[in-house]
Amino acid sequence: MIPILFLATLCLGVVSAAPTHDPSLDAEWHEWKTQHGKTYVMDEEGQKRAVWENNRKMIELHNEDYTKGKHGFHLEMNAFGDLTNTEFRQLMTGFQSMGTTEMNVFQEPRLGDVPKSVDWRKHGYVTPVKDQGSCGACWAFSAVGSLVGQMFWKTGKLVPLSEQNLVDCSWSHGNIGCHGGLMQNAFQYVMDNGGLDTSESYPYESRNTTCRYNPENSAANVTGFVKIPANEYSLMKAVAIVGPISAAIDTKHHSFQFYRGGMYYEPECSSSNLDHAVLVVGYGEESDGRKYWLVKNSWGTYWGMNGYIKMARDRNNNCGIATYAMYPTV
Ligand SMILES: *[C@@H]1O[C@H](CO)[C@@H](O)[C@H](O)[C@H]1NC(C)=O
Ligand SMILES: *[C@@H]1O[C@H](CO)[C@@H](O)[C@H](O)[C@H]1NC(C)=O
Repeated sequence: MIPILFLATLCLGVVSAAPTHDPSLDAEWHEWKTQHGKTYVMDEEGQKRAVWENNRKMIELHNEDYTKGKHGFHLEMNAFGDLTNTEFRQLMTGFQSMGTTEMNVFQEPRLGDVPKSVDWRKHGYVTPVKDQGSCGACWAFSAVGSLVGQMFWKTGKLVPLSEQNLVDCSWSHGNIGCHGGLMQNAFQYVMDNGGLDTSESYPYESRNTTCRYNPENSAANVTGFVKIPANEYSLMKAVAIVGPISAAIDTKHHSFQFYRGGMYYEPECSSSNLDHAVLVVGYGEESDGRKYWLVKNSWGTYWGMNGYIKMARDRNNNCGIATYAMYPTV
């Protein structure tokens, strides 16, 4: 496995300049606050407003460039509008690398062609998009996503599994609840634990709570997990043959925070410094030949395209989509 370097920063983003506001945006600011149910204490509002105005400007500039054809995707103001990119990353991601481990490696079948496009949502492998909230549990959503898919493959039943069970109970396997984790640790936990509860019996709470695993409510087993070789061709084969695959990406950019639609490509993206875990549910190609990965996020349905993003495919592993991809065996 390629070692991934990732350092969690523990300091909150600070807006250095004294906040100044554009009064012409007052109405829009109030509307945005109402729409997203935001309330601030007095001395907090000025700073939040300044951040929001900054983000708004950045989105506007990006979208102007988009209409000129300089970007393949557009942005939109959303519920994350009052977070600096630094704050956002701390709250909303949560993928942490913890060194290297021995893992089984995906043995590529010697098949000739794989399909030109795949979308596992059409075959019943994928549950609705969820919202991880202000808790860095992306790793749990990603792990559950590929496990649910493999259980569907095995049993023909799509049973949503409990991310909260992983958040609360896999600390001994190296995960740190809302502060981050790794999918491989989650799979190892399910394996050692001998099960994982359904999300109906153990619902998501977006915070660390005490472990309440109940074997009677378990709906999954894991027998091992498989790492995909870190290249996009192998990932394509795995997605085509296995089902939805857990992956990690670099989302440390404004463009990701406010992504709304189109083909995401971020030249600033790293392929090794990954901070967020997602689920690759398919891939395809636009009529103009641009190839993409179909990626499920865990930031609710208001983000992106109903919670999904199309990420550039075969563009030099942009944002590291193929760097840390894996699935559990069941
Ligand atoms: C969860 O626990 C970690 C580690 O104790 C802590 O740093 C974090 O703030 C907690 N998060 C929440 C949302 O409770
Ligand atoms: C998981 O494995 C255990 C032990 O073999 C078995 O009792 C249980 O029924 C299995 N659970 C599922 C959901 O397959």
